[in-house]
Amino acid sequence: MALYRRIPGAIAVITLTNPPVNALSCTVREAIYETVKRATADQEVKAIVLCGANGKFCGGADIKEFSREMRGPPLVPMIDMIEESEKPVVAVIEGVAFGGGLELALGCHYRIAHSGAQVGLTEVTLGLLPAAGGTQRLPRLIGVPAALDIITTGRHVSAQEAVRLGIVDKVTDSSAMEEAIEFAKTVAGEPMGPRRLSLWTAACPEDLDSLLEGALVRIRQRSRGALAPVACVQAVRAAASLPFAQGMKKEQELMAYLFTSGQARAMQYCFFTQRAAARWTTPSGASWENTKARPVRQAAVIGLGTMGKGIAVSLSRAGIPVIAVETEQKRLKAGRKAVNSMLTRESQKRGLAEAHLGSISFTLDLRKLRDTDLVIEAVFEDMALKKQIFSKLSSVCRPDALLCTNTSGLNIDEIASAASRPELVVGTHFFAPAHVMKLLEVVCGPRTSPVAVATAMQLAKRLEKIGVVVGNCSGFVGNRMMRPYTEQAYYLLEEGARPEEVDLVLEEFGFAMGIFRVMDLSGLDVGWRSRKELGLTGPKLPPGTEARSRGGKRYSPLPDILCESGRLGQKTGRGWYLYEKERVATPDPWLQSFLEDYRSRFGIQSRRVGQDEILERCLYSLINEGFRILQEGIAASPEDIDVIYVSGYGWPRHRGGPMFYAWMVGLPKVLDKLEHYHRTHPDIPNLAPSSMLRKLVARGSPPVHQWRALIQQHSSQL
Ligand code: NAI
Repeated sequence: MALYRRIPGAIAVITLTNPPVNALSCTVREAIYETVKRATADQEVKAIVLCGANGKFCGGADIKEFSREMRGPPLVPMIDMIEESEKPVVAVIEGVAFGGGLELALGCHYRIAHSGAQVGLTEVTLGLLPAAGGTQRLPRLIGVPAALDIITTGRHVSAQEAVRLGIVDKVTDSSAMEEAIEFAKTVAGEPMGPRRLSLWTAACPEDLDSLLEGALVRIRQRSRGALAPVACVQAVRAAASLPFAQGMKKEQELMAYLFTSGQARAMQYCFFTQRAAARWTTPSGASWENTKARPVRQAAVIGLGTMGKGIAVSLSRAGIPVIAVETEQKRLKAGRKAVNSMLTRESQKRGLAEAHLGSISFTLDLRKLRDTDLVIEAVFEDMALKKQIFSKLSSVCRPDALLCTNTSGLNIDEIASAASRPELVVGTHFFAPAHVMKLLEVVCGPRTSPVAVATAMQLAKRLEKIGVVVGNCSGFVGNRMMRPYTEQAYYLLEEGARPEEVDLVLEEFGFAMGIFRVMDLSGLDVGWRSRKELGLTGPKLPPGTEARSRGGKRYSPLPDILCESGRLGQKTGRGWYLYEKERVATPDPWLQSFLEDYRSRFGIQSRRVGQDEILERCLYSLINEGFRILQEGIAASPEDIDVIYVSGYGWPRHRGGPMFYAWMVGLPKVLDKLEHYHRTHPDIPNLAPSSMLRKLVARGSPPVHQWRALIQQHSSQL
């Protein structure tokens, strides 16, 4: 609602009240209408101050209302009514003014912000555009280039930047409310015409067309098929070239187009599922609600390699003191240097004072971990080594210290078996670079206790990461689903496709990088090492094994051959591509002729592989594995799988995540295609449709949020 009160000095104060962020729900909009009308009609009132309760102006529209039929007064005429008021309306921006909240403030005649406030037109992050006049008023207020940046990125703008750009009129370190009241008294009675943004003309640079075209090119590259940022540019173009009323009409048309697109639905789904991941539960009845996390006052990281360094930085950035352990002096010194320079860069970027960082000490002595609350092991991916470390930690650390492993796929339970307290062993699977990537898979072994899960999930929150609880199996959720996807890509090359063809299809779908470019970036030796470990190649491979078959199933030795010939990706200047200039991938004629030789050696008839086949075989085999994961209870819900893929694997947000995408495509179609590819390639095991997918199709393909109820909880591995 919106509370109305009159205060001395002939001022009406209207306070938006809808915790937690005063979203513009139907009730709030109704109340704003009523209270503004009351204030404008009240002879005693000379000026109006509009603010939000609990130190927050307004977080924007109420997203929950998007999926229902629109009720109550719409925003546009409400904001117009405020702008048309003859009495000055001053917005008090404390906390946040996002989306519809900022649009509301732009309808006011003045804006006064607290120095800690943030503003932004965030709609684009939900697949929409600011359709309550935001795309029309902001360019008129601050000019086309600055508005274009804010509207197309949805970024949060600090109060300091907002005043510099002219979005707010004044910023104060003291009470924005008091400042606004005093200010309102000084402007009471002045004509408001010049303050109405709808009457302004947007300041346009002379080269408007090339500015907008340039923006479109950059946006298309960055947003990889997302419609909303492109529509935002079109709306800003309208603001720059049309009268206000026509611009508003264009804004509405573009919004209607976006609103009914699957993309807006997918992005809103991502918004809700990301929040839902924090509300974990296990079949034993333990959950985020009934399990208390242990406090983490001091942490330790073992191993300062690629991952350990980033993990140490994340912990320190969250204000947690860290002890970092290495095996030898040289590595310790290198690790210390790298961590310190990462921390310096981080604190400069985020404006963090050193006092806010947790201290980091560096040691070779594991005994220093006597008092730590939580240890994260990030040494080489080697079971024997990890077990040895967990056994040592058991004798060194306090009995209640949580022992975490960053393994990317080893059996958590086997690691836990080496510890004296297997119930306090949990997987914390960070993603590289660990101080940047948002995802944290919290891997729960069969003996992991609820308190260990709760503590790891609480840690994720403190590190500003998205924690998702998953079960224990080889590769957990994310890496396990990547395997069939990668294997399909190899098979497609065997059958006639080229790496650049496969990558192009995947990039056009929306991935930042195609699979072959990803492999070149992370190093082909990563997968090679694990295949050697599994005995799929290298010295452990039984003599006489057929080159293209393992355990009676199809196998592609292509990546092994590349590694054996020293092509490890970017680091060796060649992999699936050639890297003559650092990091620039160019198709390699050598690879082309190598593939031709390979095909003729194994009698494979090369054919033109179509784009649809590339996309379907790669994505549907990944999705099929997702269904198996659900069936086995390794993930609690399809939503969790989608959060993992969107936040950790570059799955395009506007496609919702693999399981949501499968539902959007239509489960019967996915099943049909998998059956077709399985018939044509019976030797590829993971193309056989999972029984979970069949079951969902048989039940009429219910929407994603209903799948959880159909997953047999008794098979849960969580
Ligand atoms: P890395 O090879 O870069 O670093 C491992 C570090 O551990 C080295 O600095 C080594 O000196 C140190 N170390 C080895 N034994 C030790 C001991 N006994 N005590 C203290 N330090 C010791 O490895 P990376 O890539 O950082 O991987 C670490 C773990 O994280 C592995 O389990 C890996 O599977 C996992 N992981 C790796 C990802 C990646 O992208 N690199 C992503 C996610 C997980």
